[in-house]
Amino acid sequence: MGTVHRSGLKKSNDSARLIFTTILGVIFGFFIGVSLPMVSLSKIRLPSSLITSLDVAFTQLRRPSTPPPSNKSLEDEGSEGVPKIYVPTNPRGAETLPPGIIVPQSDLYIRRLWGEPNEDLKVTPKYLVSFTVGINQKMNIDAAVKKFSENFTILLFHYDGRTSEWEEFEWSKRAIHVSVKRQAKWWYAKRFLHPDVVAAYEYIFIWDEDLGVEHFNAEKYIQLVKKYGLEISQPGLEPNDGLTWEMTKRRGDREVHKDTEEKPGWCSDPHLPPCAAFVEIMAPVFSREAWRCAWHMIQNDLVHGWGLDFALRRCVEPAHEKIGVVDSQWIVHQVIPSLGGQGNQEDGKAPWEGVRDMVRTRCKNEWAEFQARLLGADQAYLAKKGKG
Ligand SMILES: *[C@@H]1O[C@H](CO)[C@@H](O)[C@H](O)[C@H]1NC(C)=O
Ligand SMILES: *[C@@H]1O[C@H](CO)[C@@H](O)[C@H](O)[C@H]1NC(C)=O
Repeated sequence: MGTVHRSGLKKSNDSARLIFTTILGVIFGFFIGVSLPMVSLSKIRLPSSLITSLDVAFTQLRRPSTPPPSNKSLEDEGSEGVPKIYVPTNPRGAETLPPGIIVPQSDLYIRRLWGEPNEDLKVTPKYLVSFTVGINQKMNIDAAVKKFSENFTILLFHYDGRTSEWEEFEWSKRAIHVSVKRQAKWWYAKRFLHPDVVAAYEYIFIWDEDLGVEHFNAEKYIQLVKKYGLEISQPGLEPNDGLTWEMTKRRGDREVHKDTEEKPGWCSDPHLPPCAAFVEIMAPVFSREAWRCAWHMIQNDLVHGWGLDFALRRCVEPAHEKIGVVDSQWIVHQVIPSLGGQGNQEDGKAPWEGVRDMVRTRCKNEWAEFQARLLGADQAYLAKKGKG
């Protein structure tokens, strides 16, 4: 009796397992079927006959329940109808597409997975602000973000990998969090702020985390930038700790300034950096067009961006009129070791001391390297032009 009972139990157990396995198999198969068409078959280079039959199979699998419209696109024509499209004016790599389907630029708008696409956004942000942050600056960034209205997309680059701790802030839900450990601001900017990806934004703020924003309001700042036609700008800096350039110091008596006087001998030309056409890299603000140019100048390996500030003037014309400092919306530079805290304990030094020294050395080397590359590029261009 016992054995019969047990084997009966075993049988029903087996059949349950069989049913379960079958269902699992069906689900698995379904997902493979759904995901496969997204694989670019042309890249796999299957024989064309096979591609055609696969194509047909997928088309049938994914055919919607409503009948197809009588106007056929080339997709429905089979291999015979595969288009002879070649539009040389299309973006590079997309020449075989009809221009009407090409979307060469994007945005960082967060969308819903359901409903009507045109109802996804309650407000369409026109500006972008990015901060490179570690959790230790949480309170400072919270204060800063609150100075940026709903018209801004907020983008945080986390250099310490700690993102979930930001969830306590309401605004964090609508922010975009990019987490890559121990990288510098310009490393992120080069990789995640491609001009085509941020093309929706009129102005792009690329800011450090250690800025005091008590006397700053982003909407008012934008108004001033527009009023004075600034393509590249920064807020005036306080306090004067002796390390600040004359150009970027806040002036109490005006809204905006575009030039300054430095110590004798510093400026060969009053229209050139550091007397004009110059902002620092800690809190720059770019117009869409200026960023498109500046992005191209960021070198992939020179991650600290040193020297870049002196070269930004090449992106706008005339630079001494379109680069400036906004005095009436100003910030405080608090100078906190940030990335430095990410080091390892070595030689009895505090972790940040060791890293700080190495970072300083690298900054200086990168500055020299950038100058050399720029000079080399100028000379190569001019030599070629001279010949041609
Ligand atoms: C097919 O498309 C053309 C042009 O887009 C349009 O004029 C025509 O009415 C369409 N025909 C049908 C049956 O939808
Ligand atoms: C956002 O932009 C719109 C349009 O420019 C403006 O009317 C509105 O005041 C802005 N929002 C804030 C909070 O400033």
